[in-house]
Amino acid sequence: MNKQKVIDDFSSFILSPSVSADPKRAPGMVCAVDFLSKKLTSLGFEVLLLQNGQNPATIFAKRIGSADGKTIGIYGHYDVQPEDPVREWNSKPFTLTQKNGRFYGRGTADNKGHIIQNIASIENLIASQSLKNTIVFLIEGEEETGSEHFASYIDTLKDELMKVDVFFITDVEMYKKNIPMIIYALRGLVYFEIELKVGDHDMHSGVYGNAAYNPAQILSDLFAHMKNMRSGEVQIAGFYDSVRKISETEMKLLNNQVFSDEEFQKDAGSFGLTSMRNVPPYLAPKIFPSMDIHGIKSGFVGEGPKTIIPAKGRAKFSFRLVEHQCAQNIDLLVRDFVKKYMVQYGARVEYKITSHSYDNPFYCSIDDPYLQKTARILSDHFGTETVFMREGGSIPAAEIIQRVLGKPVVLTGFVLPDANLHAPNENFDEDMFWEGIEVLGKIYGGI
Ligand code: BES
Ligand code: MN
Repeated sequence: MNKQKVIDDFSSFILSPSVSADPKRAPGMVCAVDFLSKKLTSLGFEVLLLQNGQNPATIFAKRIGSADGKTIGIYGHYDVQPEDPVREWNSKPFTLTQKNGRFYGRGTADNKGHIIQNIASIENLIASQSLKNTIVFLIEGEEETGSEHFASYIDTLKDELMKVDVFFITDVEMYKKNIPMIIYALRGLVYFEIELKVGDHDMHSGVYGNAAYNPAQILSDLFAHMKNMRSGEVQIAGFYDSVRKISETEMKLLNNQVFSDEEFQKDAGSFGLTSMRNVPPYLAPKIFPSMDIHGIKSGFVGEGPKTIIPAKGRAKFSFRLVEHQCAQNIDLLVRDFVKKYMVQYGARVEYKITSHSYDNPFYCSIDDPYLQKTARILSDHFGTETVFMREGGSIPAAEIIQRVLGKPVVLTGFVLPDANLHAPNENFDEDMFWEGIEVLGKIYGGI
C-alpha cells in the first residue's frame, strides 16, 4: 500500500470543515462530498447523491463484484462536530497533523479517519485483484446532528439496500491499543433546547430582586427537579418504565472488562468521576440512561460585576436512552414534565421547547454469525480476543438500518479511548490506523 497516498487523501478530507451543526458552514459539507465522490468514482464506484433541500447530502456508492460474492454495506459519516474551543487545540483543527504517533485534526477519529481506512482497504483489495464482494458505501452528513433524514434516504434506496448481506459501521473505539472491540449496544438520544423569557429587557437586580422572575434561576430549579444530582437518577415520571434489565450473564461479561477508575478517568481527562447504582464509572454510561445539560446561557458573565436580572435564558440538554426506551415516548414525557413544572409561572414566564433528534437505542445479539466471524478475524489479526461491549454514545444509523432493513450491523473501530472525540486535539493513533486498514481488508475480502 502506498502510505503517502493514503495520508494525502486523509489530509484533503480533514481540510474540508464539514461541521453539520451550523447551516452557515454548508460549503465545508459540499467540499467533503466532492472529495468522497471523486475518490469513490476513481475506484470504479457508481456514485449517487441523495439530498433533502439544503441539508447535507448522503452519498450512496456501489461497486459490483463477482456473482458469487456477498454484498457488503459500509456506513460512515463525513460531518464533524464544531471545532471550538479553538484556543485549546495544539494544531490547526482542519489541518491533518502528525505528532507523537498520532494523527490530529477535527474528524480524524470521528469519523473521517475510519472512512479513509475503509476506502484504503477497498483500494488495496482492488489493486491485488482480490475483491469479489460487491461494496456499497453509505456516507451521510447529518450524523452529528441526529441523522434527521437518514431513515427517508434508506427508504428511497430500499430496493438496493435490501441486497446488502451485512452492514459495517466503523465509528466506535477499540477497547485498548491492539485489543479489538465489537459494540453490540448503543444508547439512543433525545435532544432539547429550551428558551425562557420574563420580559422585554434586563432589570436592575436591586430595584426588582424579589419581585421579578429570574430565568437563570428558573432553569436551575427546573434542572434540579429533572435529575437528582446525588443519586444520578432522572426524576421524570415513567422515564425508566420500559428499561430492560440487563441479565446476570451479560452483567458478568461486562464486569470482566471494566477499566480501572484511574484509567477511565485519565482517558476522559477529568479531575474525578462519579457513578450510580453501585456500578463502576466505566459501566454507568453504557448500561443506564442519562440526562445532561450541554450549555446554559443567561445574563452576564463578562468581566467585573453587573447587577441585573436577565430577561432571557436558554439551555440545551439531552437524554441518552437504553433498550427498550422509545425516543418519541421519552420526548413526550419530558415535554409533559416541563409543561407541568412551568404551570406555576402561568403567562408571566414565556417558554419554548424544541427537540432535535429522535434516536432509538440499538441492541443486537453477539451470537450473530457476522459478528462472530468479524470477531474471529479481528482476534486473529491482533492476536488478542475481541472484546464485546456496550457503548454509551449514539449512532442513529445503526438502529435505523436494523429496524428498516432487518440486516445485521457490525459495529467496530480503531480509535483509542483517549482519541478526544468531540473535543480539542481529536486524534487517531497511527499504528491502529494502519492496522485497521489491514484487518478491514481481511474482513471485506474474506467474509
Ligand atoms: N462516533 C460517535 C459515537 C461514539 C461516541 C462511539 C463515543 C464511540 C464512542 C458518533 O459520531 C457520535 O458522536 N454520535 C452522536 C450522535 C447524536 C448526535 C445523535 C453522539 O453520540 O452524541
Ligand atoms: Mn461524533
